[in-house]
Amino acid sequence: MTRVFSGVKPTGHLTLGNYLGALRQWAAVGQHRGEALFCVVDLHALTVEHDPARVRRLSRQAASLLLASGLDPELCTVFVQSHVDEHARLSYVMECVATDGEMRRMIQYKEKAARERVRGGSVRLSLLTYPALMAADILAYNADEVPVGDDQAQHVELARDLAVRFNQRYGHTFTVPRATPPAVAARVMNLQDPASKMGKSDDTGPGIVYLLDEPEVVRRKVMRAVTDSGEGGVVYDRVERPGVANLLEILAACAGGEPEELAAGYDSYGALKKDVAEAVVEVLRPVRERHRELCADPGHVERVLREGAARARGIARPTVDAAYRAIGLLAP
Ligand code: TYM
Repeated sequence: MTRVFSGVKPTGHLTLGNYLGALRQWAAVGQHRGEALFCVVDLHALTVEHDPARVRRLSRQAASLLLASGLDPELCTVFVQSHVDEHARLSYVMECVATDGEMRRMIQYKEKAARERVRGGSVRLSLLTYPALMAADILAYNADEVPVGDDQAQHVELARDLAVRFNQRYGHTFTVPRATPPAVAARVMNLQDPASKMGKSDDTGPGIVYLLDEPEVVRRKVMRAVTDSGEGGVVYDRVERPGVANLLEILAACAGGEPEELAAGYDSYGALKKDVAEAVVEVLRPVRERHRELCADPGHVERVLREGAARARGIARPTVDAAYRAIGLLAP
């Protein structure tokens, strides 16, 4: 049976990028493919400066948004990473299989560490070892498929390498996973800075559409998206016209069609932006509505997370125990 695992980190309010690149796929495809687990990876949120109360709040909100996006606890397991000790247990083993060079090569580490240093802050050691924990998240469940956006591909690739290395050195223990990015919107870009990913922890609010933004706010952000001079009409060109290409990809992801073909239907950026705004508002509407209902019933989300953690523990424990034995640790 195919096993699917993926996660979202509660470091900020979830964005349209998270939804189109991940959550929507998890609900539409992931949860129907055999055994699927989706996780709010709160341990990962501690790798950068954080406010404890905010992380708790964002973790609850992320869990609620996973359900609001269509994850059905009857079909899949939804839980919080820190509720299942096996993640941290296996993470240490992964640190004993990975090298520091591999960790330092990770693009996200380089970018985030550089940003911290520019701010005059220090870089937490856990930011460097982040991919070991992420590999543990995936391997503890023997996941075959990891549905993620493009930005996580390098981390999943490392998880693959670590699985192969562990199996070769210590005997077959882990399934070798693979990333399964969505066909469209694997990398939604910031509306104000189309050279950068639309990231939830970034500071450029006007370029980021949040899942819980009011329709009016979504419209304003889309209408103000950075484009270009528009000479020669509306064309899809990721290199020369990244802002417009991003809008066309968002439209394709929300309303269907191919970006190139959609471009041919417009003769002005204004008309394109209007349609993008409406398409995004419509895609987010049911998510916001369901989230509002869930907020009125916090007991339900808590129950789902409690049952999810119990189920996840039951799957992960035998694998992590087996890894402990294989690498040379004495059984208790
Ligand atoms: P995170 O929380 O940054 O993002 C969650 C998911 O959303 C996708 N995503 C995007 N997709 C398209 N366009 C964007 N602008 C965009 N921004 C985010 C991400 O690719 C991801 O799929 N390290 C992970 C969390 C994690 C994880 C795991 C994922 C921890 N352990 C194990 C899978 C398996 C992260 O920070 O995702």
